[in-house]
Amino acid sequence: MKRIILIGFMGCGKTSVGKRLAHSQKLPFVDMDEKIVERLGMPITEIFARYGETYFREIETQVLHQLMSQTENCVISAGGGVPMQQQNRIYMKEHGLVIYLKAAVDTLVDRLQDDTSRPMLHGGDLRAKIIALQSARTPVYEAISDIQVDTDGKELGQIVREIHNILAKK
Ligand code: S3P
Repeated sequence: MKRIILIGFMGCGKTSVGKRLAHSQKLPFVDMDEKIVERLGMPITEIFARYGETYFREIETQVLHQLMSQTENCVISAGGGVPMQQQNRIYMKEHGLVIYLKAAVDTLVDRLQDDTSRPMLHGGDLRAKIIALQSARTPVYEAISDIQVDTDGKELGQIVREIHNILAKK
């Protein structure tokens, strides 16, 4: 069984790294957010606007459970909030290898500046929002991960190669 789960803050590159990593590992790639959008037939901003965050988190947990029980060999990009629920952490630890993609606040502000697709960052000052959310989440990301990779100032190919090399030694 080879189930690789990428975690980290919004904008840290889970989807782009995940796609490339999946290719280099010859595994299928699964994006949790995409599964949620498919399941509910609407974009994440609309799910939040119509049903609220609590509902989104319930669906997120259901999708995670389904993936952990149905899809064995794959690379999964987990939404930034997934590790914040204890039951999700237990599932991820039990069923996969968790890789944390680390990114500094400046990198995230840069990447998320023009983004409108993440309701957790809507309204108010983007940097302040990132700092507040990141400080609550970083200890959780660190505690749950098996591998941590710095992404700041690195090109996609370099990040993927680093992960590939770490996995080859495991
Ligand atoms: C969220 C992250 C998003 C998406 C939703 C909530 C979060 O996924 O699941 O907007 O709470 O961090 P990405 O981390 O892939 O952007």
